[in-house]
Amino acid sequence: MTEPRVTPLIECRHLWKSFGDTVVLENLNLTVAEGEFVTMVGASGCGKTTFLRMLLGVEQPTAGQLELGGEPLPGEPRSDRGIVFQRYSVFPHLTVLGNALLPMEFQQAPLSGRLFGAQRRRAKERAMAMLERVGLVGSAHQYPAALSGGMQQRLSIAQSLVKQPRILLLDEPFGALDPGIRNDMQELTLDLWQREKLTVFMVTHDIEEGFKVGTRLLVFDKLRQDPHAPEAYGATITYDLPIDRRSGADEAMATPDSPGPEAGA
Ligand SMILES: Nc1ncnc2c1ncn2[C@@H]1O[C@H](COP(=O)(O)OP(=O)(O)OP(=O)(O)O)[C@@H](O)[C@H]1O
Ligand SMILES: [Mg+2]
Repeated sequence: MTEPRVTPLIECRHLWKSFGDTVVLENLNLTVAEGEFVTMVGASGCGKTTFLRMLLGVEQPTAGQLELGGEPLPGEPRSDRGIVFQRYSVFPHLTVLGNALLPMEFQQAPLSGRLFGAQRRRAKERAMAMLERVGLVGSAHQYPAALSGGMQQRLSIAQSLVKQPRILLLDEPFGALDPGIRNDMQELTLDLWQREKLTVFMVTHDIEEGFKVGTRLLVFDKLRQDPHAPEAYGATITYDLPIDRRSGADEAMATPDSPGPEAGA
């Protein structure tokens, strides 16, 4: 059975990115469907953040095509794409709720940054609903300084999801967190990915994390090197590995009920 061709959500064709004479990324070819969870690893400085910034629209390709839903990706950040950085980027002088409201204030009242009446009420409801999903409702009126690192990252995630983006861009979002909290954050991200039907691009320095949360892992590396001119060549996608996410739970569900060890003897 042949499946109808669906327009990919993101498509890169022969995509290059240089800064001056320095080639950072070369000849990226990638097709990502809606709903994928793409994890990315690669050496420091190989251009992973640059790639995310191109997906966000704040960095333009030097050559090649980058498309979103079959159209050239708009060269500016829009509400269909949200980003979370390694170090949280919340505003210390605003409460948790104030921070969660901010993206909607910027979007709906770009000049004054303030919402009034019904508009403010709706924005507040949406912000509180998102804080609920990331487990921060109880801290809505606290200031970021009173939050742990994991809570601050959850706030960053709430902030980037409150405008209901289709694509979530995560740049080593849990790198600074303790292992236990990191685990919780991975679960939360997977939960939000499923519930909000997101397409996720996540850079991680931890390949295990990449395999654990992704549906697909990309490795960025340089295929060619010139020791006399390290800037001459950029990194590209050297491995594109599908990850079989069928968990033990799925397999258990697929197995018909079998009698327990004591039964039927
Ligand atoms: N705006 C810019 N102007 C000039 N050079 C830049 C700019 N942004 C990034 N670079 C350079 O591009 C290269 C790739 O940087 P990038 O931050 O994308 O790497 P990275 O893979 O995210 O690294 P890390 O794992 O350390 O975060 C680096 O050499 C960096 O100095
Ligand atoms: Mg980076």
